[in-house]
Amino acid sequence: MNFILKIWRQKNAQTKGSFKTYLLKDVSPEMSFLEMLDYLNKQIIGNGGEPVTFEHDCREGICGSCGLYINGRPHGPMRNTTTCELHMREFNDGDSIVIEPWRARAFPVIKDLVVDRSSFERIMHAGGFISVNTGSAPESNSNPVSKTIADKAFDAATCIGCGACVAACKNSSAMLYAAAKIAQYAMIPQGKVEAKERVDKMVKQMDAEGFGFCSNTYSCEFDCPKGISVDFIALMNREFFSSKVCKQKQT
Ligand code: FES
Repeated sequence: MNFILKIWRQKNAQTKGSFKTYLLKDVSPEMSFLEMLDYLNKQIIGNGGEPVTFEHDCREGICGSCGLYINGRPHGPMRNTTTCELHMREFNDGDSIVIEPWRARAFPVIKDLVVDRSSFERIMHAGGFISVNTGSAPESNSNPVSKTIADKAFDAATCIGCGACVAACKNSSAMLYAAAKIAQYAMIPQGKVEAKERVDKMVKQMDAEGFGFCSNTYSCEFDCPKGISVDFIALMNREFFSSKVCKQKQT
């Protein structure tokens, strides 16, 4: 297969970037999208050029580091699929493919297709943990959690923190990310102890990082490679407002 690749090239955060066009020939349909970029880089290096910088780690949809904006969609055209799980057979021979980094003020470009997502880390540092001593692993039936709740908490915990929700949202909102991280704790007994404090701190940090408000278009859910539901945003809002009511009652 042959492709025309239009790739965003940017030296660093201080310089302006632009699209550069590459013609890539003899791509195997079985190559993953990242393997295709490896193949391109091999050719660029062979010609004495600077390879395209992109982020990756696990290459199996687990770590969340491979976010690329492909033809106007976070992670490309396939639903519930990360960039590393996307294969070239999903494109047509001769296609033009536009590849960009995530676009959001809170995700500044470091180089080419790599953005700084440490704003997500700071949201987690603000409250995405359980600080009470839960002791060693208890006997599983001593802490009863219904299957429905356990399954929902697990669904929230499947968020890989890739940032596709932010890239998909016209307001660059991180509400789906924050909601999933808050919900994974808020629904289980161990997480309930600090739930009110946690939601307050994490939402405050999310706002401080410069993410926008929820646009209510559900584009985050649509483009999330793990299919995280916007229902978690409603849960986060409920948790947030009940934390405010509790605070008011205390004062
Ligand atoms: S490289 Fe880990 S999710 Fe894609």
